[in-house]
Amino acid sequence: MAAPESVKKEIERLREQIVFHNLKYYRDDRPEISDAEYDELFLRLKDLEQKYPELLAPDSPTQRVGAAPLEKFVKVTHRTGMFSLDNAMSEDELSEFDQRVKKVLGPAREFEYVAEPKIDGLAINLVYENGKFKNGATRGDGIVGEDVTQNLKTIHELPLKLSEKKPPELIEIRGEVYMRRKEFEELNREREKAGAPVFANPRNAAAGAVRQLDPAITAKRRLHLYVYQLGEARGWSFQTQWEALDTLRDWGFSVQDRIKLCKDIEEVKKVYGRLRDERETLPYEIDGLVVKVNALELWTRLGFTARAPRFAIAAKFPARQKTTVVNDIIVGVGRTGALTPVAVLGPVEVGGVMVSRATLHNQDEIERKDIRIGDTVVVQRAGDVIPEVVKFIPEQRPKGAKKFVMPEQCPVCGSKVVRPEDEAIHRCLNLNCPAQIMESIGHFASRGAMNIEGLGEKIVERLFSEKLVNSIADLYALQEDDLTKLEKFTDSETHKKAKNLLEAIERSKKTTLPRFLYGLGIRHVGESTAQLLAESFASLDELEQASVDELMTIEGIGPEMAAAIHDFFSNRENQKLLKDLLGQGITFEKVAKTRTETPLSGKTFVLTGGLSGMTREEAKNLIQAAGGKVSSSVSKKTDFVVKGVDPGSKLDKAKELGVRTLTEKEFSDLLKQAGVL
Ligand code: IVH
Repeated sequence: MAAPESVKKEIERLREQIVFHNLKYYRDDRPEISDAEYDELFLRLKDLEQKYPELLAPDSPTQRVGAAPLEKFVKVTHRTGMFSLDNAMSEDELSEFDQRVKKVLGPAREFEYVAEPKIDGLAINLVYENGKFKNGATRGDGIVGEDVTQNLKTIHELPLKLSEKKPPELIEIRGEVYMRRKEFEELNREREKAGAPVFANPRNAAAGAVRQLDPAITAKRRLHLYVYQLGEARGWSFQTQWEALDTLRDWGFSVQDRIKLCKDIEEVKKVYGRLRDERETLPYEIDGLVVKVNALELWTRLGFTARAPRFAIAAKFPARQKTTVVNDIIVGVGRTGALTPVAVLGPVEVGGVMVSRATLHNQDEIERKDIRIGDTVVVQRAGDVIPEVVKFIPEQRPKGAKKFVMPEQCPVCGSKVVRPEDEAIHRCLNLNCPAQIMESIGHFASRGAMNIEGLGEKIVERLFSEKLVNSIADLYALQEDDLTKLEKFTDSETHKKAKNLLEAIERSKKTTLPRFLYGLGIRHVGESTAQLLAESFASLDELEQASVDELMTIEGIGPEMAAAIHDFFSNRENQKLLKDLLGQGITFEKVAKTRTETPLSGKTFVLTGGLSGMTREEAKNLIQAAGGKVSSSVSKKTDFVVKGVDPGSKLDKAKELGVRTLTEKEFSDLLKQAGVL
């Protein structure tokens, strides 16, 4: 039976009402109706949608939860790169930023700033097509993020549909997912009760919730969203940031109400000072003020440096500091054998987080700061999660304050500790040191690597001490029997745990090359280098055979890294490890890119000579943003050589190898085609 017109109207009205009350409740914290009244509207809508399934729409407020859990996140290349911001650490540095802007724009040009509180959460990118929420991704490394669409849908402040009659064809909107202090504390209390580890701060809790594979869990965490920036906009144009924020508000997004339009940097400084004083009274954490030039036309003129825009800056608040006592200095052994001294502190709350340990980095650092056991010290959390010891307070040094001495033997395996020349780090060189092996197994299993859920530190320790796992390859030989023998797995409830762990290990066999490479723990190879390596070589085999010189042709890989990679693959034991791992059935999937293909996708570029319209770094960023790669030397694998003013020998090499060259004009046309310029 076709739905009567009256039902269609009622459904529409219910949806509008629910969206309105959602915002009142979640964004404004000021509900206008009771929970029961809200539930009534919601249930009525659900009921009608069930009766008339043809009227069910993906942007209906009933569709926020209910998606099935994912096995893993798909990688997404952002249409336009998501840059981070340079920091100004003081009012003087804000003035310097203002001077730099004025230098580019010239003294005659008048302009304004927009000052926005810098929320401490997780940056995300949202894509709307013809007004409908299409997908959302984490920032990732700024170029590639993870598709977290289903999870973002559970955030009530995210409009599934823009309230705009003629919405833009496509628009990218950037914002911050965050958790309010009160809700963060509640969550931690619940977790503590349930025996789960607590989150260090609201940012980590928000990031953890967004990166849940099961949207039902995300839905339970009370997340919020503020938007503050546009990416690509097709079919709509804005003149100023202020106007963009206004429009976003009109479209139904939450936009900060503490944002101020300032006529000059002096006014910005006033806003900064006021916000700094108000900071602790806000319901959420902020770590500074983002200052942006208002006129968007000037953004193009100011452009970008290697890592950040020149038209904006983050004015950070000073770190929050407290004093406490150093009760002891202990030594930890890391995956690479590095011995790290750690201060054991009298527990103290710094900026809302309990701190009881702080890394002291290395012996030189301890000596430079002259920190001793028994000292009263200043600890701070500088914007970041990791607490550090700033200095000791001389007046409060007790008589017997004890100097720290680095042990001569590894505290875990007893091997001799050495400090390699030119290094600040003491190391245990025993590759079979249990601490190193356990750390490397933990690293291999970690989320950014093979993502083996349930293989935490404790289990690794047990498996290792029972001699069930001596290397990462042994993980794949584990049987249910092995696990149930362990204490943790004796009763029937824990039988299930054993099964789950084995399943997680089995699942991890289907992975991607970047994850695998990162998991191997090659020195200097972090997640982004692993990604770079996987993109630059057709297979693991090819990478294994690569010479130091070949590795160095990759932009972003320097001599030290190249040597470390080469050393790793030349080592017999490592070769055996790789053979064993692959023999266990590990396979690599292609990393899916959901971004639209551009003429630059997957192509390798080499730049030679100076470009008149942009710096090299800018050109590099644009190429990467459009899906291309940049290399520093010409080879058969090069697709295009961009010829600037006074090109060097690379142009000759290109001609010799028959590589296609592009003039600067052709190059910028290509970038325009790709939509990044
Ligand atoms: S704008 C091209 N505005 O700060 C400009 N960022 O250090 C890109 N953030 O990754 C960022 N509040 O996670 C901008 N009002 C705001 C912000 C903001 C918080 C975060 C965001 C970004 C980081 C930059």
